[in-house]
Amino acid sequence: MRAAVLTGYGSPDVVEVRQVPKPVPKEREVLVAVHATVVGRSDCGRRDPHPRLFGRLMYGPLQPGRTTLGMEFAGEVEAIGNGVTAFKPGDRVFGMVRYREVGAHADYVCVSEDGYIATIPEGLPFEQAVVCEGAFYAQPCLTKLNLKPGDKLLIYGASGAIGTAALQLARAAGVRVTAVVDTRHLELVKSLGAERAIDYTKEDFTRIGEKFDGLLDAVGKTTFLRCRRLLKPGAMFVGTDMGPYGQTLLLTMWRALTGRGRVTVPLPKRDPGFVRFLKARMEAGELRAVIDRRYPLEAVADAHRYVDTRQKTGIVVIDVR
Ligand SMILES: NC(=O)c1ccc[n+]([C@@H]2O[C@H](COP(=O)([O-])OP(=O)(O)OC[C@H]3O[C@@H](n4cnc5c(N)ncnc54)[C@H](OP(=O)(O)O)[C@@H]3O)[C@@H](O)[C@H]2O)c1
Repeated sequence: MRAAVLTGYGSPDVVEVRQVPKPVPKEREVLVAVHATVVGRSDCGRRDPHPRLFGRLMYGPLQPGRTTLGMEFAGEVEAIGNGVTAFKPGDRVFGMVRYREVGAHADYVCVSEDGYIATIPEGLPFEQAVVCEGAFYAQPCLTKLNLKPGDKLLIYGASGAIGTAALQLARAAGVRVTAVVDTRHLELVKSLGAERAIDYTKEDFTRIGEKFDGLLDAVGKTTFLRCRRLLKPGAMFVGTDMGPYGQTLLLTMWRALTGRGRVTVPLPKRDPGFVRFLKARMEAGELRAVIDRRYPLEAVADAHRYVDTRQKTGIVVIDVR
């Protein structure tokens, strides 16, 4: 079978599509013929980690420990291992591989039946089912913000994979969202349910004179100090990244050490039921994939180049079949 293989760390040139042995499902594993997958920021971060030393400690000092990337998949069950009861050949499924498993940038991937996998909602095309990655990082932020229906949330950078997912999941929970984005994304965020869209190229969002019950920096490009006047007393600032000059990370560490402060970068908790939660949101019409570009598997390195620009809207899909 074909798989996109990392030949080392570095630029997208280290990603090569090669022939590798087709995996065989072990006990309680499902073999999925991949139809659609995604190149996301996690993949690019594993290919070329920053900070480099920290990344190499995590992923492998000399060579990446996992050579085929791809966190999420949508496809068809081709075979099942012994003991599998929840899925059968022919089922249309979507989900995510676990942190250390072989990735989905390949013709086939094996997934544990009690892992992050569920059947695709009836009639939904494969490329519309790759909604997991952004939501996986958005959901812990929303959980940490602990907002009630009717509460007001400001999402800074609501146009990326995490931002578009956070916006839709917050709306599904009845939260009123103000989205801060570039001019080209104003209509998109309104179509996803933002009550108000602010163009960061034309207006200083920190001076709109409103107060919020929570603030999510979905792109790691703003800071608590800049945004604090937008927050109601006790409201949290959550981020998905370290923030400029590591400010969000430093304030997160301060909070972890002292138990004080209102800034945190929440990490996802292990919860395979999360994929069924997303399925229910899709069936209710509350969550859809926002697809920027699509590439064939053979052009996966070009997809990495595009994701590296940090300018994508929503997700970049790889059509494997
Ligand atoms: N996705 C993951 O796997 C993952 C996991 C953990 C953490 N993170 C971190 O979380 C952050 C977001 O990830 P992502 O995958 O959602 O990113 P992404 O999809 O690559 O985000 C790109 C979007 O951000 C917008 N953007 C760029 N600069 C901006 C700015 N200064 N202000 C507002 N919007 C801006 C871009 O549009 P414009 O340039 O037109 O504004 C684009 O639509 C990244 O820092 C990433 O490292 C990602």
